[in-house]
Amino acid sequence: MESKSAASFTVKEFRAALGQFATGITVVTAPTEEGPPIGITVNSFSSVSLDPPLILFSVARTLKSFDAMIAADAFSVNVLTSDQEELSNQFAASDGDKWADVSWMEGEGGCPVLSGTLATFECAPWAQYDGGDHVILVGEVRHIQSADAGGALVYFQSRYAHLAG
Ligand SMILES: Cc1cc2nc3c(=O)[nH]c(=O)nc-3n(C[C@H](O)[C@H](O)[C@H](O)COP(=O)(O)O)c2cc1C
Repeated sequence: MESKSAASFTVKEFRAALGQFATGITVVTAPTEEGPPIGITVNSFSSVSLDPPLILFSVARTLKSFDAMIAADAFSVNVLTSDQEELSNQFAASDGDKWADVSWMEGEGGCPVLSGTLATFECAPWAQYDGGDHVILVGEVRHIQSADAGGALVYFQSRYAHLAG
């Protein structure tokens, strides 16, 4: 693939166009050998396959936790509810303690599972693909949890929105 972009638009215009696609918000977590677990706010989450059960998200190569994330032998994707905007901000900020005052427990696959979310997908790594300045991580879902009720935290035009359940 050519490294020079043939795009007819600026990065700013591209970001603005992408922002027209409303997404949910997740926090992806993974244990590390030493130190606190990884936790990153992610809205590039998507379903991939029902059989086998696969999901994906993309992780920026610039993240401090990038090396640990792509080396993780398990990760969990936690889908945030409409009242978890603060958690989204906390796990998106590089400075500070991402895990301060966060309620979580270890899931069946050994990954941190955040409390009070809409759903959790505990995964084993399935594949990794080059995604330009990101790497696309595909996970095989091993365990799920899904809430009976709750609204969704949504990201649209670079802002949060709250969707009633
Ligand atoms: C709404 C929202 C969605 C995000 N989605 C992604 C994403 O899909 N992939 C990604 O790599 N970073 C995403 N980020 C940025 C990361 O959460 C942030 O850069 C990361 O937590 C910083 O972690 P670090 O301390 O390891 O560098 C998103 C941030 C926000 C606020």
